[in-house]
Amino acid sequence: MNSVKCYIWVVIYELRIEKMVQGGEGMARLPDGRVCFVQGGLPGELCQVEILQNKKDFTRGRVIKITEKSVDRAEPRCPLYGKCGGCSLQHLESSAQAACSALVERENFRRIAHVELPEDFKIHTGPAWGYRNRARVVIARAKSGKVSYGFRMQKSNGIIPFANCPVLTPALNAFLKENAAKIFEESIKASKRPPRNFELDVNLFDNGAGKVSYFYKGMPAADFEKNAVSVVEIAGKKIRSDASVFFQSNLSLLPELVTAVQNAVDEGIACGEASDAWLIDLFSGVGFFAAILKDKFKKITTVERDEGCLKHADFNLSADNVSAPAEDWLAENVVDVPATLIVDPPRTGLPPTALEAIVKSSVNRLIYVSCDPVTLARDFSRFRDAGFALKKAEGFAFYPQTPHLEMLFVLSR
Ligand SMILES: C[S@@+](CC[C@H](N)C(=O)[O-])C[C@H]1O[C@@H](n2cnc3c(N)ncnc32)[C@H](O)[C@@H]1O
Repeated sequence: MNSVKCYIWVVIYELRIEKMVQGGEGMARLPDGRVCFVQGGLPGELCQVEILQNKKDFTRGRVIKITEKSVDRAEPRCPLYGKCGGCSLQHLESSAQAACSALVERENFRRIAHVELPEDFKIHTGPAWGYRNRARVVIARAKSGKVSYGFRMQKSNGIIPFANCPVLTPALNAFLKENAAKIFEESIKASKRPPRNFELDVNLFDNGAGKVSYFYKGMPAADFEKNAVSVVEIAGKKIRSDASVFFQSNLSLLPELVTAVQNAVDEGIACGEASDAWLIDLFSGVGFFAAILKDKFKKITTVERDEGCLKHADFNLSADNVSAPAEDWLAENVVDVPATLIVDPPRTGLPPTALEAIVKSSVNRLIYVSCDPVTLARDFSRFRDAGFALKKAEGFAFYPQTPHLEMLFVLSR
């Protein structure tokens, strides 16, 4: 173990992977004590690791050979594994991913927020493949006239073509196969000239009930209602949205998150920490959570920055639906009753001024839905310093085969 081989430009170590860290890399230590983050390494494995990045405090590498394999190692299902950049955890058996994620998050919260996740911290799981009902793809036409489609590469702006993406729902894969060329032609007619580089970015949404909707910039307004708008039924409520705006991307598991949020709301009202006088849903998208909870409250405010969501929110619930940054709304509105507050910010977490305003308000209970446990941990430590405590934590495996996790925190003071 820990032997080193040096070729002209390549440095290779044999390393034992100690654990998985946030982002899905394995973590090992070099003989000099520096940490090495290892792409493709699983906890317990002994691997030959090629060093790709050599920094003063840490290094980065990739597995080139496995000497002792983990029992949880799986053969990646997708031929684009390692190329597309999307599903970097396919080398870990699907059935082992939630347990691994739970360990990663326990450590993440310990390290960033100095808090222990509750002993009963659970990650809800759903289908491991074919779950993703929302995607952004690029349809491209070669000079020969051949049309293909793929994902946009994160760093180079190139395209990774695919025929069948195993995490997309079967309906999305089938829709692309049948309609990519048609959508491309339609967009050319709409814009009266070929899109730049003969490429078209398209958002797709499968509503789980037989309709795939799509949107591209420049879609004629007359086609929008028919092609882009969709209705999803969740928890007995019909929710209107369209393919150009945010909507949750794992409809199979979404009902479990909805139930957890409903329970958190009911418990808050029952114990008196929150009230049914006012529901404030910040970062509300098309008014998703508020639309499901609307019958429980006397007054509702939803706040969402994307103006495209507003018409749907107005359709989904009769409430004070505001199109504004949440931090601006909080700066201009005094919350002086113990309202029920739900926040569901993007990966960046809460803007600091929004967080400060919540702390200064009369809100005593906060339901925080997060798609990034790192920013959740950061925000939690600020709330904790301001007197909030963690009441409940749950995880939702919305993105199997990737290191991403959805989480729900309930805080109170
Ligand atoms: C994770 S999504 C949640 C949406 C909604 N809660 C749902 O479940 O469908 C985050 C939403 O926050 C919106 N957003 C991002 N920054 C914002 C801000 N500063 N103020 C208000 N909304 C914001 C995004 O447009 C997006 O719709």
